[in-house]
Amino acid sequence: MKNSLYILILIILFCGCKKNIPIECSDNIGLYKFSKYPIGCAINFDFLNNDNFYRNISLQQFNSITPENIFKASFLHPSESVFDWVNADSLVRFCKINQKRLHGHTLLWHQQLPNWMNYFQGNLQQWEAMMKSHIQTIITHFKNDVKAWDVVNEAFNEDGTLRNNIWKQHLEDSYLEKAYNYAKDVDANILLFYNDYNIESNNNKRQAVLQCLNNLRNRGVKIDGIGLQMHINTYSTDQSEIANTIKLFSDNGYKVHLSEVDISVNPLSLTSINKEIAFQRQANLLGGIIKAYNQLPQRNQYGITFWGISDKDSWIPAYYNRIDYPLLYDDNYSPKPMYCALKNNL
Ligand code: G3I
Repeated sequence: MKNSLYILILIILFCGCKKNIPIECSDNIGLYKFSKYPIGCAINFDFLNNDNFYRNISLQQFNSITPENIFKASFLHPSESVFDWVNADSLVRFCKINQKRLHGHTLLWHQQLPNWMNYFQGNLQQWEAMMKSHIQTIITHFKNDVKAWDVVNEAFNEDGTLRNNIWKQHLEDSYLEKAYNYAKDVDANILLFYNDYNIESNNNKRQAVLQCLNNLRNRGVKIDGIGLQMHINTYSTDQSEIANTIKLFSDNGYKVHLSEVDISVNPLSLTSINKEIAFQRQANLLGGIIKAYNQLPQRNQYGITFWGISDKDSWIPAYYNRIDYPLLYDDNYSPKPMYCALKNNL
């Protein structure tokens, strides 16, 4: 009797300790199969068509896809009277055949604008007509296949003021309201998102965005969700602030899309990185975020999208001209500890 009690205590102690040991995971079964909400990735169209490893991972692991670039204005709307649907339609077919949700990114942004739009000459009515036609032609074209759009992307400055982009310059602050109304007029069932970065870390921006969305909603404008991009890092990111931000937008009735997740391990641009330590920090941070996201009511969990698949297709190293390893898979398409942290917390 005494012996069996002793064994029982040993078993309890062993199980308790085991919780702290990182659990190995395999990537044979896709992430999305473990998840109650969609798990997505941004797709680089060239990689999808030229790299079989990349394509296979996108198919096996994810059930939601955001086009990284090819749905942006410079790609879809290269001149005023020309819309180029070729690549976009090919991605639509890929998603349809493989039963992947396709998230529309993005209709109005200050970057990747075609020259004709950037330098468009016209009075207020002509700008309004141009914006309306841009939004409605694109939503209409994809109406059966793209059921959610980032209508406006990155409209706020870090101090919480509205960014002085071409839309604000020519249509004043009301461009936001008009944009969402034009989008809704095509199909009131399509989900409309506002998407931005640093909302999880900058309180000025967070409050400004929330107030703007709430004001619009109180005026009857349809805005269904917030895209928290989450280009974060292992140095300055505060996990509890992220958890509070996710909850804040959900409590205010918005669907929450963690829409462009990547976790930089080298925001200070060091010339070498201890990968073992860095990857563990990355994994811990992601695990905490997933736990916070899991707390939301299911109706507000639009999903989590990673901004790429492997470290070699991330925008970060080229953009900041530094080494970095921000994504779930390494350069050889092996899953990293953050992949396991994600899978084990779904
Ligand atoms: O299309 C040209 C191609 O013709 C040319 O040969 C090639 C040479 O470098 O450049 C191509 O353009 C690149 C474009 O991506 C398409 O591949 C640009 O140089 C490159 O700067 C551009 O970067 C994209 C960036 O948005 C633009 O600001 C990134 O891939 C994309 O990941 C990034 O995504 C944004 C989100 O949309 C919004 N949130 C921030 C996020 C990261 O910046």
